[in-house]
Amino acid sequence: MYPLRRNRRLRTNESIRSMVRENMITPNDFIAPLFVVEGKDVKEEIASMPGYYRYSLDLLTKEVKELWSLGLRSVLLFVKVPENLKDNAGTEAINPDGLMQRAIKTVKDATPEMLVMTDVALDPYSSYGHDGIVGDGKILNDDTTAILAEMGLSHAKAGADFVAPSDMMDGRIFEIRSLLEVEGFHDTGIMSYSAKYASAFYGPFRDALDSAPGFGDKKTYQMDPANREEAIKETLMDIEEGADIVMVKPGLCYLDIVRDIKNAVNVPVAVYQVSGEYAMIKAASEKGWLDHDAVMLEQLTAIKRAGANLIASYFAKEAVKLIS
Ligand code: PBG
Repeated sequence: MYPLRRNRRLRTNESIRSMVRENMITPNDFIAPLFVVEGKDVKEEIASMPGYYRYSLDLLTKEVKELWSLGLRSVLLFVKVPENLKDNAGTEAINPDGLMQRAIKTVKDATPEMLVMTDVALDPYSSYGHDGIVGDGKILNDDTTAILAEMGLSHAKAGADFVAPSDMMDGRIFEIRSLLEVEGFHDTGIMSYSAKYASAFYGPFRDALDSAPGFGDKKTYQMDPANREEAIKETLMDIEEGADIVMVKPGLCYLDIVRDIKNAVNVPVAVYQVSGEYAMIKAASEKGWLDHDAVMLEQLTAIKRAGANLIASYFAKEAVKLIS
């Protein structure tokens, strides 16, 4: 007797495997995060993110041109704010000549068709390192959403295509959308960090921006990693409030959530493969314990398979070099 079905037949060689492959990553899946600093001719490696850098505006120009030539079509901007410009209200966040606003213009000048997405949250601007205004040791929700809306508007005025609120305050999508509409920015999109968990995987990012919380943690606004239903609730609410793209963050530990959300919504779903996920692969492969490129592509493909339409990843550049 022979087996009736031989599943291995479709795995015989790479030509067959590629013919029946269900999911593939392509350059237009990616959003490349970029860290920007003040100064001239600055390209600083982030200690806990080997191979990843903060760029001053002059070198940012070079970098985005290279990303564009590799086929990448969107960047997500973060700025490292000088210590003397930080305060509790994050006032610098809405400075029309602030580093973010100049960074947006720099990218648009260098690569006019590159989609510019911007982080909207107070933490890099906050003297407390929190995503919201602090009062009595608490994070004040409604005061924060008011300034987040101003921040979103300020990015839109500077030329951002999408603003990306990563703060997890309640009602911020509605506030930002409303202000953008009133001010005539009908085409500026919102990519909402909808299901953002209070994760320990953000450590290297906070080194990159020097934005670690000065007291306490972010558990009163970011989600409990134990929760699943809540992720769907958060995401559906953000869509009702006007989000064009929703996001799950981090990636790898939350792929069940990605699939649940993909099945529950009809807007594009983005996944953020965060700094700690990047650092783990870099560290283990530096030690020779993992095959860097293979593990990187496996994880990115798994994120796609789980249901991601877009992947924000520090591997964007390395990955597109390998797949094209
Ligand atoms: C800021 C923000 C964070 C990340 C993206 N936007 C840090 C945080 O919430 O503490 C993390 C990204 C990463 O780890 O790569 N609100």
